[in-house]
Amino acid sequence: MRILSIETSCDETAISIVEATGDFPDATYEISGNALYSQIDIHKEYGGVFPALAKREHIKTVVPMLKKALDEAGLLIEEKQELDADLKEKLTSLLEREEGLADELIRFFESHEIPQIQLIAVTTGPGLEPALWVGINFAKALSAILKTPVIPVDHMEGHILASIYDVVEDDKLASIAFPAIALLISGGHTELILIKDWITYEKIGQTKDDAVGEAFDKVARMLGLSYPGGPEISKKAKEARERNLPPYKADLPRPMLHSNDLSFSFSGLKTSVRYAIEGKTLSEDEVKALCRDFEDAVTEVLLKKAQDALTQYGASTLIIGGGVSANEYIRRAFQTELLSSHPDVEVYIPQPKLSTDNSVMIALAGHAHSKNAHQAGAVAYLKANGNRSL
Ligand code: KG4
Ligand code: ZN
Repeated sequence: MRILSIETSCDETAISIVEATGDFPDATYEISGNALYSQIDIHKEYGGVFPALAKREHIKTVVPMLKKALDEAGLLIEEKQELDADLKEKLTSLLEREEGLADELIRFFESHEIPQIQLIAVTTGPGLEPALWVGINFAKALSAILKTPVIPVDHMEGHILASIYDVVEDDKLASIAFPAIALLISGGHTELILIKDWITYEKIGQTKDDAVGEAFDKVARMLGLSYPGGPEISKKAKEARERNLPPYKADLPRPMLHSNDLSFSFSGLKTSVRYAIEGKTLSEDEVKALCRDFEDAVTEVLLKKAQDALTQYGASTLIIGGGVSANEYIRRAFQTELLSSHPDVEVYIPQPKLSTDNSVMIALAGHAHSKNAHQAGAVAYLKANGNRSL
């Protein structure tokens, strides 16, 4: 089954072509095309992601990404043809809110062969609704042109599957033991999910306020570092550790560490950083030390909550996913420290390139649910749900 997957939930416009051979979860997934455009440089100026701007950028880049993914997969074949007038009318109506996109897509398929695709997978949430709608309407339009069914995908399920893909056996999902716990840490989410069996999820913990990636981004902004803050803070913290710089604020709070539940909270930690720097001009080294102190506090909380969840549910697998799982220090902490408290737990961490948003993970999640795909063209039910939850 050849899957075309689309991800536009936040500030990455991504399209992949993935060839799935066999049934989920035992299939082999070969990535034959993988195109990703990051809008980070555009949002950097504003210090965060603006939904209307993200939408505009998705509209501008989604056809170029389609072209690139098809090209990589060897499916970009020039061919002149006239699309049916009814089809063109349908495309114009499906993409009426994405200015110029219908015409661009029609031009594209009037000069290229229509590829053979068996399933279109698209992120329908969670995420920024204006951004999600671009991907969804694009999927609907492609469904009409390619005569291919569409499957709606939960972005967070994508992160979970990305973490166990291509880490044990090439091109395959790891055969994990259940129950498993997933710790999802991204810019929009901080969640603990109990996975009782394949595609059977229950949310058992979440943040009461900021997501952990959001805390990284906001603290970075306070320190004058650029967006996204995670990688910036992580670089500075690393240097502070290598040079053994003295703490700037060793006693930053570890919010809800002993709350005896699986909830998180990061806004107090962020506020403590604000108080620690208010009215002061920090030296370069003090900034680095504070980045490390912050990263230490976050890591300690994440580790403790994951350990609590594993113990509480007797789980033998821990899956860490989401953009923050790209953080080197956090990755290492989970690989080493978790072993000492839970030696029998298998820990899965995504390859760095699949940690942050991408469309390969959307293809994996789409395949997991492919049996539920509606018929080609039956796309009215597809809706964006910014707060969609596993
Ligand atoms: O999963 P993701 O790409 O997008 C969302 O679904 O939100 O996660 C983005 C988040 C941002 O907040 C970014 O600062 C954070 O992941 N991030 C990191 C690192 N790389 C990305 N946080 C800490 N350390 C990193 N190395
Ligand atoms: Zn994400």
